[in-house]
Amino acid sequence: MRNSTVDLLRPELAVNGGTPVRNKPWIDNYTLGKEEISSATKAIASGYLSKFEGSFTPDPPFSFLGGPYVDKMERAWEKYYGIAHAVSVNSATSGLYAAWGALDIGFGDEVIVPAITMTACAVGPMIYGAIPVFADVDPNTGCIDPDSIEALINDRVKAVLVVHLYGFVADMDRIRDICKKRGIAIVEDCAQSHGAKYKGEYVGTLGDIGIFSLNVNKTIQVGEAGVCVTNNADLAYRLQLIRNHGEAVVGPAGYSNISNILGFNYRLSEVHAAMAIDQLDKLDALTETRLEMVSYLNTNLSSIECLDIFTPSLEDTCVYYQYKLNFDEGMANISGPDLIRALNAEGLQFFGGYTPLYFQPTYQQRKMFKHGYPWSAPENAGSNVSYEKGICPIAESLTSRTITSEHVRPPNTMQDMADIVDVFAKVLG
Ligand SMILES: Cc1ncc(COP(=O)(O)O)c(C=O)c1O
Repeated sequence: MRNSTVDLLRPELAVNGGTPVRNKPWIDNYTLGKEEISSATKAIASGYLSKFEGSFTPDPPFSFLGGPYVDKMERAWEKYYGIAHAVSVNSATSGLYAAWGALDIGFGDEVIVPAITMTACAVGPMIYGAIPVFADVDPNTGCIDPDSIEALINDRVKAVLVVHLYGFVADMDRIRDICKKRGIAIVEDCAQSHGAKYKGEYVGTLGDIGIFSLNVNKTIQVGEAGVCVTNNADLAYRLQLIRNHGEAVVGPAGYSNISNILGFNYRLSEVHAAMAIDQLDKLDALTETRLEMVSYLNTNLSSIECLDIFTPSLEDTCVYYQYKLNFDEGMANISGPDLIRALNAEGLQFFGGYTPLYFQPTYQQRKMFKHGYPWSAPENAGSNVSYEKGICPIAESLTSRTITSEHVRPPNTMQDMADIVDVFAKVLG
């Protein structure tokens, strides 16, 4: 399939009134089965939907650390990832917020985050008074670019958030090298990359804290949940304190490092924890199906010249939370959004790229809290952060030239993947 300029005015295209390739609706993510139903039922029948207690020496059966399913889930995560501590939370957003608290990020600090990612990634540091600084990304993976991190480093930078976006993996060797030299902490957001490996090692275990999401769209999911992992016992304890009203616990516990220990309720229910254990058991099989689907699409779309299909290094295991392509708008002489409209009219459900977070009013107006905090805080006065258009040119360009699909996952089948190939052949062939 060779092509250069694409004519989207052809009458046979569904976008112009032609017959669509596919009429069948797409099925949303649903990864639960009889195992989760049985586990959830047992958790409910146990009589306790949560056994968390927000104090240091509660009476049994309640505990500051939660109940038996929460405990079992956390131990399962530790075993799977080969890491010392897992701390469950009720979302990855909660986990991200707790991570900045645990790392004692605060006023006067800057945290480098990728320009394109989910919105909570940049909000977390601000909750503690720190300033998010946006780094550009790798055009192939959408993950944070080490060169851009390096260019943004100054004495105020205390942490870098690495997001392993779309199930791809960031260049961790270089990022760790840059951060280690300067004592900068690394948080890995693995919401989209359960089970992904960088050079044979699980992402999430390569920085100071790794965070996973089990929200309804994720590779493994229980509706809403999250997990933080770390090899550092003090960080794990601080995550537990922030998860569960820690300011009430530190006194009786005799814990003196109380900065940032304002505890929230980030606790996970026993029912969600019970289902999450079964989901983790299914992770490898679910990923394998995704990889088969991606391999089929890559093989069958590779001859379309205006599609740029990225092949990760063989040393890495990318897990394809979404199928992501870059589209050469110049070669095809049409825009990414116009292509997506034409593809979706044929029965697909593709999306464009992320819009850089700094275009949000929060950053443009520098106002997260009243009086322009955290930017207006005296401790942040020396921060030279910019949120101008043009600061992350690759991220900005990816918004229109990225096309993504969520459908490389069960319960979709190879027949559904064949529909995707047929639609691309019709529109771009
Ligand atoms: C990269 C990334 N980080 C964080 C989150 C937040 O996850 P949760 O919905 O569990 O709070 C998401 C969810 O979409 C995400 O994709």
